[in-house]
Amino acid sequence: MPNVGAGEEIRLGRIRVASFAPPPYGLASRRGAADPIPPSTMPLPTAEEARALLEQHVQDPYQRLHATMVAAAMGGYAPRFEGDPHLWRLTGLLHDLDFERFPDRHPAEALRWFQGWGYPEEMIHAVEAHAHGYNGFTTLPRTPLAAALLACDELCGIFYAYRRLNPVPYGQMKVSSILKKVREPSFAAKIDRSTIQLGCQHLGVPLDAHVANLVGFLAELP
Ligand SMILES: [Fe+2]
Ligand SMILES: [Fe+2]
Repeated sequence: MPNVGAGEEIRLGRIRVASFAPPPYGLASRRGAADPIPPSTMPLPTAEEARALLEQHVQDPYQRLHATMVAAAMGGYAPRFEGDPHLWRLTGLLHDLDFERFPDRHPAEALRWFQGWGYPEEMIHAVEAHAHGYNGFTTLPRTPLAAALLACDELCGIFYAYRRLNPVPYGQMKVSSILKKVREPSFAAKIDRSTIQLGCQHLGVPLDAHVANLVGFLAELP
């Protein structure tokens, strides 16, 4: 594990030894599509500990904001899929934890850290699957948690870019305006629309409903 400090404290202070051994990195990719992912059996870091971990690893203000936005979106979706809101928020907050230091390997380093820290396999799978199509990652989402992360990640980038043009609170944005920007390839051209669509398909939520959901979920942000 390359880091000490807040992450070490979390590993030693909060996470007990798992009742099942965390698999070596890559096992999730080799599972059959129908194999269930074991439920979480370990306590997670608190929201405050997770924020400290984010601030330890991520210095760029935009990347911190992005993590906060994805966490809010994931927290909004959790009850709709009977998910643990804390786990879903944490997955959103920490999904890009290694990006700043290891952009060419992201999220391979984070997956290795999470396994070392004893994080739940369902969270590790979601973070792996959000990288579908990047840095050689091909894992597709097999859970609502993973599908939601894939669907929310890039769409939060669209919301952010739209706000720079039109500085209104996220909760007051018009769904039709965001949809128009999603469908306009030249707007925030680096944002991959295909992963948003892929996430929506796996989540079972149409794009227009997904955008409307995020307008509601992101309303908690200033
Ligand atoms: Fe990422
Ligand atoms: Fe991200």
